[in-house]
Amino acid sequence: RALWLVVPAAGQGRRMGADKPKQYLMLDEQPILARTLARLYQAFPHATLVLCLDADDRWFQPDWVPFAHWQRVPGGTERMDSVLNALHAMQARDNDIVMVHDVARPCITPGDLRALYQAASTHAGGALLAMPVADTMKRANAEQLSTHTEPRDGLWHALTPQGFSYVLLRQALESARHQKRVVTDEASAVEALGHQPRLVSGRRDNLKVTHPDDLALAAAILAAQTD
Ligand code: C5P
Repeated sequence: RALWLVVPAAGQGRRMGADKPKQYLMLDEQPILARTLARLYQAFPHATLVLCLDADDRWFQPDWVPFAHWQRVPGGTERMDSVLNALHAMQARDNDIVMVHDVARPCITPGDLRALYQAASTHAGGALLAMPVADTMKRANAEQLSTHTEPRDGLWHALTPQGFSYVLLRQALESARHQKRVVTDEASAVEALGHQPRLVSGRRDNLKVTHPDDLALAAAILAAQTD
């Protein structure tokens, strides 16, 4: 049962307001993309990587890829299209495990990666790293006025990686696309087929670099991580 790592890295990262996509911004003297791939490699040196990159990408350098087995596929319009391109390009068997990890999460740890892999390969509905919601959740109207408070019991933040059998993930994303539903993570598509992915409690420092302030935060997290 082979392990495939799909890394969608074809986004523009516009919320960063930088002159290049955020995966190419430097984090401690290395581009975010290289940092993320290094963490994945640390946990799974024998996996095959499928990297989704924009067809017009001018920044990517192949020597940032530590994996012996890897392929590049073009990104799509939405994140889910990029992931589907990867699933269609790779020569996987139905039962192989596919773990999808955002390039923008460079602080992922080997411990969380292994925990997620373990859950994804033993639970039929797959699994995702997630974090229980800590703040009180407000529902706002169009005027940004708080109309009520959502009970936060049972609410989780969805993180990545998310892992599923190849056949389930492909069926789920193809079905979402067929129904013209845009999903922002793999688990949403799998849930829509009636499956229940397992939530694996992940570290709070698995930050998604999104806004300019996040770069300094990610650098501080990397410096503080000892395991
Ligand atoms: O923009 P955001 O951080 O939500 O994107 C999540 C991930 O999906 C990023 O790793 C980004 O590069 C990737 N992505 C993609 N193809 C797109 C849009 C986003 O691979 N069309």
